[in-house]
Amino acid sequence: MQPEYRKDGEPTILEILGEDRVEQIVERFYHYNLTDKKTRAFFHGINIERLQRMQTVFLVHLLGGKPINMRKMRSAHKRLLDLTDAHFDAVMKNLMKAAKDMRVPRNLRDRILQAAEVTRDDVLGRTPAYELCGSQV
Ligand code: HEM
Repeated sequence: MQPEYRKDGEPTILEILGEDRVEQIVERFYHYNLTDKKTRAFFHGINIERLQRMQTVFLVHLLGGKPINMRKMRSAHKRLLDLTDAHFDAVMKNLMKAAKDMRVPRNLRDRILQAAEVTRDDVLGRTPAYELCGSQV
C-alpha cells in the first residue's frame, strides 16, 4: 500500500517503517536495555510488558510526527534517581542497535535519533516548570 504523504510531501518515519516494525524495534530495544550494564539496574521491578507497550505508543506517536506529552515523560522518569546524560546516551545507543538489527537504513536511524533526542531534558528532569505549561495532551 502507498504510504500517506504529509502536506510537505515527506512521509513520516512511521509511514515508512509501519507500526509492526516499530513494535519489533521496541522489543529489541528492551532486550538491550535490560542486559546493558549501564542501564539494566533502572529496570528492576518494572512491569516490562507495560513499559514496552507504552514505549511503542510513544515511538509510534513520535515517529508519526505528533507532539509528545513532555509532562508525562518528565513524571515517568522522576522516580529514577541519578539518571544522567550517560544513561540517556546508553539508551539511545541501544535504540540505534535495535533499529540496525531490524535493518532500518542509516538515514532513518539518524532521523529516529534526532526525534528521540528532543526528550532528553524532560527524561533527565531538566526542563524548567514554565516550559511545561504549554505541553500537549
Ligand atoms: C530516548 C529516551 C527515553 C524515552 C523516549 C523514554 C520513554 C519512556 C516512556 C514512554 C515511558 C513510559 C511512561 C509511562 O508509563 O507512562 C518510560 C518509562 C520508564 N523509563 Fe524511559 N525513556 C527514555 C529514557 C530512559 C532512560 C535513560 C532510562 C534509564 C536508564 C529509562 C528508564 C525508564 C523506566 C525504568 C521507566 C518505568 C518507570 C516506572 O514505571 O516507574 N528511560 N520511558
